[in-house]
Parts: sequence; structure tokens; C-alpha cells
Amino acid sequence: MYLCGMAEEFNPFLLQGYTGGDTFCDRVSELAALKEAMANQRNVSLISLRRLGKTALIRHFFASQRLRIVQEALRQVGRPNGALLKEVAHAMRSLEFNLAFDPLTGLPEFGVSARPGMKQAMALDELFSYLERQRKPVVIALDEFQQVMEYPERNTEAMLREQVQRLRNVQFIFSGSDRRMMQAIFSSGRRPFFQATEPLHLGPIPAPVYVDFIQRHFKAARRRIDNAVVQEGLDWCRCHTYYVQYLFNRLYALGKREVNALDLARTRVSILQERAPEYMTLKRLLSPHQAALLTAIAREGAVAAPTAMEFVVRHRLSALSTVRQALGVLQEKELVHHAEDGYRVTDVFLGHWLAG
Ligand SMILES: Nc1ncnc2c1ncn2[C@@H]1O[C@H](COP(=O)(O)OP(=O)(O)O)[C@@H](O)[C@H]1O
Ligand SMILES: [Mg+2]
Repeated sequence: MYLCGMAEEFNPFLLQGYTGGDTFCDRVSELAALKEAMANQRNVSLISLRRLGKTALIRHFFASQRLRIVQEALRQVGRPNGALLKEVAHAMRSLEFNLAFDPLTGLPEFGVSARPGMKQAMALDELFSYLERQRKPVVIALDEFQQVMEYPERNTEAMLREQVQRLRNVQFIFSGSDRRMMQAIFSSGRRPFFQATEPLHLGPIPAPVYVDFIQRHFKAARRRIDNAVVQEGLDWCRCHTYYVQYLFNRLYALGKREVNALDLARTRVSILQERAPEYMTLKRLLSPHQAALLTAIAREGAVAAPTAMEFVVRHRLSALSTVRQALGVLQEKELVHHAEDGYRVTDVFLGHWLAG
């Protein structure tokens, strides 16, 4: 491992981590909805496409709360023999739980990850019995919840379901991608579990709000960027959070006093060029039918009826049954999703690359 210090100046368009309100755009109503639900003991399922901001919203919520357990653990950190810390350590010993401090905000955070092949159900049990003993209201966010379902121990889900219904002082936020969460909700075995939760669908941040956010950060650094350029960038990213953050991180990183339409055009080209090897690999991993369908959808932008004769003929796709099957696979892999205006390629940059 190599390690070196960096200049202190930082790019306000974050791609990972959470540094608090200033670099976090909007989600005002979603945060309010989350707070209200938690304050009134309603569990929430946070659902969105990938990379739209579920994890960021969860962190934003946690930062907005005086999360008792975390705060208490923090207070005890100075005294490593503190009973609470010991208890936490005990409760969490078989999960990859860790208490870390966000280097920028100084906020404590718990990280949880499942180590494959471990007794997850037992570990979660330990955690829950610890939480129950606390008796204070606690919020647990299970981010990318479907992963819990994939734990090798079959009874993890059953145990979780039981705890969710039993623990009075614990509120849950489940988050997951559109497709997986919907599958979990509608597959009958899991239904009772999720029926008790309130769905919170996260959409894109509205363009005018994002324009203001972007302008504010450029102005703060005494840089100029025309609203028209910002708007064009947002359109190109379809306002999908990760892609917006990435594009404007790059435009900001140019370090120019004035960022214009040509800078945007060049940056767009670079981004797609840089990702080309990755996208080529991805394409090779698909069957020819799947790759052809994905490309056809990318070229059209949105396709209301991928199995319509006209679309199939225009893009020289194969038999209808093959197209239908390929569409199923692409959806399953979350490479395409069904949006309001039809099927779309989920990864915005991949879509541009395929269409180009
Ligand atoms: N409200 C926001 N303001 C600024 N950046 C955000 C916001 N929400 C998400 N991001 C950024 O967008 C990217 C994707 O968000 P993430 O929360 O990881 O999405 P998800 O969990 O839905 O896959 C991350 O780089 C994150 O920092
Ligand atoms: Mg996430």
C-alpha cells in the first residue's frame, strides 16, 4: 500500500462518502417523510434505481438524527473499557461490524458487511438482543436489503421478520434497487414482511433544484458556468444522481474560471472513451441477442414496446420469443429498466456509449 497526503482543496461533487448538508443536494421532502415515518414507528422500504441516492439519503438521515446508540458508543470511545463499547463489540463480534469515523464530518458510523459463509442469523440475533436491552428508540438501516436475503442461512429472513414485528424500540429502513425490492415485495413468501413497511420511492432530483446546487458550488469557487451548459449536462445525465455528480465533478476539476459548452462536449467524449474497455467487456459477457437488444434500446433512448414488430424489424433483431427472453435477462441484470416512457438502459453512460 502506498499512501500520500493531498492538497486540502476538495471537489464539492462527491462520488462517495457523505460530508453533510453542503455537498448534499435536495431530498428535503424525502428526508421529512423518512423522519416522520421513523418518529411514528412505521418501517420504510426505500426503493429506487441504482445510483440514484438511497445510501446517501440514509446517511443524510442518520446525520440529521441524534442517533443515541452511535452517540453513546462515541462517548465511550475515549474510555476503551466502557461497558457499552464492550457490549457493542460482543453483540457484533460475528458480523463485520465496525465503528469508524468519517474523516470529513467526524461523525461516527457503523459499517456492516456480511462475510460469506458466516452464521449471519446468529450474528443478527446477537445484535437484536443487544438492541432490545437498550430499550431506547433505535433506527436500523439495512442497505441493499436483498443481500440479507441472499445470506446462506435460510432462516435469516424469518428471524429478521420476527424481530421486525417484535422489537418495539427498533425501526427499520430497508433499501434496495427497484427490481429486487419489488421482487421481494411481490414474491408471496416474503409478502407479510414487507406489507408492514411503507414504500418510499426515490426519484431523480428535480432539474431546477440541481441547477441551483451546481451553480452554488461553481460560484463559491468563483467559477462561471452558463445555466444552458448546466442544463445540457443534466439532460445528458438524465438527472440520474451518480452521473450528474460524476460529470460535474469532472467539469469542476477542469479548474477553469469559465466552463463552457466545448468543455462539456470534450468531457462527455472523455468519459465515454475512458469507460469503453469496461463497456466492451460487459457487452462480450452478454449473448449476441442480448447485446443487440441492449444496443437497440440505447439507440432509441426509450422503447415502449421492445417486442413490437416494427422495433424488432428496424433493429434487425431476432424472433420475438428470443427478444422477449433477452429482455427478461437484461431486466434481471438491471441493465435495462422500465421507466415511464418505456424501457431504458439503466447505466446512463453505457447508454450513450452504445448509442454512439
Ligand atoms: N442528494 C445528493 N446530493 C449529492 N450527491 C448525491 C446525492 N444522492 C446521491 N449522491 C451521490 O450519487 C451517487 C449515488 O448515490 P448512492 O446513494 O450511492 O445511490 P444508491 O444507494 O441508490 O445506489 C453517490 O456518488 C452519491 O455520493
Ligand atoms: Mg447504495
